[in-house]
Amino acid sequence: MGGNIGKNTQTTPDNYTSDYVTCFNALHPYVDYFVLNVSCPNVGSHAKLNDKDYLLELISTVKKANKTFGKEKPILLKIAPDLNDVQLDEIIELVNETKLDGVIASNTSVDRSGLKASEVQLETIGNGGLSGQPVKEKSTQVIKYLSEKSNKAFPIIGVGGIHSAKDALEKLDAGATLVQIYTGFIYEGPGLIKKINKAILKQA
Ligand SMILES: Cc1cc2nc3c(=O)[nH]c(=O)nc-3n(C[C@H](O)[C@H](O)[C@H](O)COP(=O)(O)O)c2cc1C
Repeated sequence: MGGNIGKNTQTTPDNYTSDYVTCFNALHPYVDYFVLNVSCPNVGSHAKLNDKDYLLELISTVKKANKTFGKEKPILLKIAPDLNDVQLDEIIELVNETKLDGVIASNTSVDRSGLKASEVQLETIGNGGLSGQPVKEKSTQVIKYLSEKSNKAFPIIGVGGIHSAKDALEKLDAGATLVQIYTGFIYEGPGLIKKINKAILKQA
């Protein structure tokens, strides 16, 4: 069981780190690994959460907190599907420099391109993270880029638009070592997990 932690929407930039540390300390006894979620489109202020220097500071503070417990838990970073190549290169540097345990790619997207809904409909729906099939390809490309560019230096958990066993295998082919489902679980139901596991076993 993973503990996915982030900052609250109302938190001011000076207090972001303390939000993460509070959640980290409270959850530490109960989870097997942690996810630093720096990519939720609903909590605002992404400039700081995309800044490499800030992320270095955040990760080192959380790692320090990790050392205060008897058993250190693995820590992964969860990133957006909307990062450009320069930003993805920075993520690779960051993971290598801080010896993070891996990356989860990806969160939901703020990009609305390629959707069937009209501009007016999208305006009415408003802001928020887009999940499911529309983010599938973007998240796969992020996984592929990170895996190839880093030379598979760290584990990647693939998530984004997995609605079938084939989608899960695509994530693994792109370089993911594990997969997660969220929207697919809602639309396809729990049977999707069995289908994915069977397909993976068939390939092994
Ligand atoms: C309603 C909803 C709530 C979510 N909440 C979180 C969250 O709290 N933390 C997080 O890291 N990702 C959150 N996500 C992102 C999902 O975990 C996942 O990364 C993303 O939706 C892409 O996968 P999917 O296409 O299988 O949904 C949320 C997604 C949805 C749709």
